[in-house]
Amino acid sequence: MPAARRKLCMMMMMFSIFICVLVSVSWNLRHRSVQEKIRIPSQRFWHQHVVSESFWNKEQQRLDFIFNPIVNFVLSRNSLVELPDWLNDTGPLDPCVPDDRVPMQILDYNSLTQGFKDFLLHMRCRTYPMLINQPRICDGKPFLLLVVKSQIPHFDRRQAIRETWGRAGVLANRTVATVFLLGNALPVDHFPDLLGMLGHEAELHKDLLQWDYRDTFYNLTLKEVLFLEWFSQNCPHAQYILKGDDDVFVNTLRIIDFLEGLSEMKAKDLFIGDVIRDAGPLRNPKLKYFVPESVFLGQYPPYAGGGGYLLSREIALRLHNASRQVVLYPIDDVYTGMCLKKLGLAPDKHSGFRTFDIEVKNRNNPCIYRSLMLVHSRTPQEMLTIWPWIIHPELDCQ
Ligand SMILES: *[C@@H]1O[C@H](CO)[C@@H](O)[C@H](O)[C@H]1NC(C)=O
Ligand SMILES: *[C@@H]1O[C@H](CO)[C@@H](O)[C@H](O)[C@H]1NC(C)=O
Ligand SMILES: *[C@@H]1O[C@H](CO)[C@@H](O)[C@H](O)[C@H]1NC(C)=O
Ligand SMILES: *[C@@H]1O[C@H](CO)[C@@H](O)[C@H](O)[C@H]1NC(C)=O
Repeated sequence: MPAARRKLCMMMMMFSIFICVLVSVSWNLRHRSVQEKIRIPSQRFWHQHVVSESFWNKEQQRLDFIFNPIVNFVLSRNSLVELPDWLNDTGPLDPCVPDDRVPMQILDYNSLTQGFKDFLLHMRCRTYPMLINQPRICDGKPFLLLVVKSQIPHFDRRQAIRETWGRAGVLANRTVATVFLLGNALPVDHFPDLLGMLGHEAELHKDLLQWDYRDTFYNLTLKEVLFLEWFSQNCPHAQYILKGDDDVFVNTLRIIDFLEGLSEMKAKDLFIGDVIRDAGPLRNPKLKYFVPESVFLGQYPPYAGGGGYLLSREIALRLHNASRQVVLYPIDDVYTGMCLKKLGLAPDKHSGFRTFDIEVKNRNNPCIYRSLMLVHSRTPQEMLTIWPWIIHPELDCQ
């Protein structure tokens, strides 16, 4: 490199550093006036972190710290650097041992429901043994993998899906595979013993995935994380995933048609559904989606309603990666939105996804279903009624 250019390079570098310093100093000054809490730095930059009062946020700060590339770089170079006090984690070494410090860290812990308490106590645990697996289900490299969140007692819903929109095999010249995601139904939750029947079902249809955890509302996030893990190990070549509940109706033909029409760029980054924006935690303890301030502060990122969404294999694999860096949240679809945000992505809204159903007057109109991708909710009987409307094209819908 000629000397003149080298000099220019140097000058530009110095200038950039100067700008950087200027920006960070002015940012600090501005924020210091708002937030009196920030102390004069006497230690390394990460020691002056303002620790959140909310439990989830604090746990997330811990993960952000652990996964921060700069900190990682410093830690790997300098073994004398210790973790800051606020990260000195005296919790159980095994993340799956219930954390008995939790009740002390959450002011209104005792007023929470048992389900919410259970979630908080086991929030760090992400590994549960698999009881039923189908390691060969993706051997045919399906074009579309239908992934249905179900629960053990819902035998009829699963059967209706197999006989209608979730039939595995070839549809419109594309390979479709279907799996049902299950946790466990334990005697502590007063379930009768359904495992014998489930064993038969698994033998017969070879489409069940089951893990050994309590299948409860707040554990749905676990279902998501365990699925992503399973996918990356057992099915990473399926091109697209439709993930939905066992009470949705999916127009599989329309989905395949839509996917075939995507440009290569769109296809890779695909994540569509019924997107909810500008939402935040509900603070009324009587509501199903209640989350107290002591647990979470902040707004939700855009997220696709958990009833059903469609994504590409690339995004699923990246979500799996990102999920390790996001603390489990008690609401599964919000959690997926958080993981997308971690990747710098947001879901796209598609009007074919109707997780809040369609107008009552249209619910028995066969032609309406042709253009939809997914509707919530439908009973097994309704699924068997609607599916023929989709696959028998003799109806004139113009
Ligand atoms: C964490 O704190 C405990 C007690 O306060 C101390 O004994 C221990 O050395 C600290 N660990 C780290 C990694 O700083
Ligand atoms: C079916 O799909 C295969 C490959 O996926 C393709 O080669 C073939 O042309 C298709 N057939 C029809 C009738 O579209
Ligand atoms: C989730 O499953 C684990 C493992 O069975 C259980 O310990 C925990 O209590 C469950 N959490 C909820 C919220 O039910
Ligand atoms: C997952 O993360 C690792 C390290 O952060 C990266 O090397 C890898 O490419 C990522 N994989 C995907 C599928 O994004």
